Amino acid sequence: MSREWNVAVVGATGAVGNQMIRCLEERNFPVKNLKLLASARSLGKTLPFKGREIPVEELKEDSFQGIEIALFSAGASTSLKFAPLAARAGSVVIDNSSAFRMDPEIPLVVPECNPQRILKGPGIIANPNCSTIQMVVALKPIHDRARIKRIIVSTYQAVSGTGQKAVVELRNQIQALSEGKTPESKVYPYQIAYNVLPHIDVFLENDYTKEEMKMVNETRKILEDESIQIAATTVRVPVFYGHSEAVNIETEKKLYPQEVRDLLKTAPGVIVVDDAAAKKYPMPIRAEGRDEVFVGRIREDISTDKGIVLWIVSDNIRKGAATNAVQIAELWARQ
Ligand code: A2P
Repeated sequence: MSREWNVAVVGATGAVGNQMIRCLEERNFPVKNLKLLASARSLGKTLPFKGREIPVEELKEDSFQGIEIALFSAGASTSLKFAPLAARAGSVVIDNSSAFRMDPEIPLVVPECNPQRILKGPGIIANPNCSTIQMVVALKPIHDRARIKRIIVSTYQAVSGTGQKAVVELRNQIQALSEGKTPESKVYPYQIAYNVLPHIDVFLENDYTKEEMKMVNETRKILEDESIQIAATTVRVPVFYGHSEAVNIETEKKLYPQEVRDLLKTAPGVIVVDDAAAKKYPMPIRAEGRDEVFVGRIREDISTDKGIVLWIVSDNIRKGAATNAVQIAELWARQ
């Protein structure tokens, strides 16, 4: 019989944590015992796993005794405090927060791109930012073939990326507006319903947002190429699930759109949906609930010699977070 593992999900009651539990179940991950952890606010709650209701426990310093795999999705401050404790207790931590992603000692892994970076034992592995994951899954085969020199990306990001509270806020705002009431904005600085906000995470000194700089720095780390020039504009849109990205790339070697289509058709984790005549292209409503990265609108960048434009869509809660974390766990467990 293959080995089974003691697994903990930290932030189990949140949007990503919940999806992690579902991914473990759907992908039939060999779980011996599943421990669900959240804040004291969630005491008394239970969550379903494989037909059983599992009680949510309060996250404490001694929560990780006997835990072999800990999937973290409870925010950076919780990770900073508890992930090192879990690793010291012998767990491999797969951390969905930004806390450790740019630490040179900590691997930042997308299984389709850099599986060789996986740890062999306990320790911390960082799960990249959702908008980075879907972009690198699509760009890695192109980078390997033609070396990408420059990336210009604009994102159209779903509210679920901010957490369950933002999903509720968008729903409430749509409801309030349909009833002629004034919508309340608590999660975002402005109304998100029927609006777009060119502002994700905090503004930095260089006038980019932290989300934009995550795309720059994490992409370089995962593709293991510090020379790629990247500029990002990250935008929150009133979509519940699924991030979309318009990506212009400039390559060292000239590529034609059909070559890119052919390359991506056999790329792991990618589905090409690209038939302009039949009006076929990726959309968040089609990507929701799926684990793949969808790529379409592949065409020449007519503003430059060696440029390609792509449209990349993926479910931010699944491949952008929970699925990628569980795939990392699968890769780790196979070692
Ligand atoms: P809780 O539901 O008890 O507040 P989301 O990203 O959807 O907002 O979810 C965040 C997740 O992180 C939730 O499961 C939340 O638990 C958990 N969480 C937030 N802060 C803490 C904390 N200090 N300790 C443990 N879990 C936390």
